[in-house]
Amino acid sequence: RQEVARIPVVVHVVRESPDDVGDEQVAGQIEVLNRDFRGETPDIALIPEVWRGLVGDARVEFFLAEEDPDGEPTSGIIRVPTSVPAFGTDDSVKAGATGGSDAWPAEHYLNIWVCQLAGGVLGYAQFPSGPPTTDGVVITHTAFGTTGTAITPFDGGRTTTHEVGHWLNLRHIWGDDGEGCHGSDFVDDTPNQGGPNQGRPTYPTVSCANGPHGDMFMNFMDYTDDACMAMFTAGQVERMNAALSGPRAALLT
Ligand code: ARG
Ligand code: ZN
Ligand code: CA
Repeated sequence: RQEVARIPVVVHVVRESPDDVGDEQVAGQIEVLNRDFRGETPDIALIPEVWRGLVGDARVEFFLAEEDPDGEPTSGIIRVPTSVPAFGTDDSVKAGATGGSDAWPAEHYLNIWVCQLAGGVLGYAQFPSGPPTTDGVVITHTAFGTTGTAITPFDGGRTTTHEVGHWLNLRHIWGDDGEGCHGSDFVDDTPNQGGPNQGRPTYPTVSCANGPHGDMFMNFMDYTDDACMAMFTAGQVERMNAALSGPRAALLT
């Protein structure tokens, strides 16, 4: 794909007081997505020299939808007051009948639900080829965007970057095998890594005999703090593009 694909986004803010996630907080999040998926974040400076050449450009751009499913003009942001103080990961935020907001047609929109998630969960995502009524990503409002209700250390918009990575079929960089060395993320240019990294590790952090460079803990698909995340690799981009020309192809039409 030569051209940059444009993906329409609808943000469903589902809160007891949905107005506290303002337009500016939403716009800031879209900006972070656009920098991160184009390999253009200023945080590239944080990447060790050896991996700078691996930074991928997914050639996708996200924008707030301008037309709703009926073809009517929209801001791409819908605010839904709810009486549910905190949602679990059972997808109840994705339906009006359970105190949430119904998905817009998933073949044509990226649905992002912003709510209070229970139990300290920052966000979760649905992989490609799942049911359309629950397709998209859910982000707790304190980890959404860079202003407003976003709270450090998850106020860099990277939870959404990470979850949209899953939505485009990326696995965790450590291979989802606990701390083991046998799991794979099915990407060739990411180092084999034991378990997730948290906080702000220092380079090099070695696991699974992956020295001297160690874990690529500044990858968006690790679990480090927002401020230390900076890249998708070319191999991860290849996997995302396979999703965009396969199960998610209708988004680009
Ligand atoms: N699914 C992960 C969780 O909720 C998201 C991790 C995002 N990490 C981040 N630094 N923003 O646990
Ligand atoms: Zn994840
Ligand atoms: Ca592993």
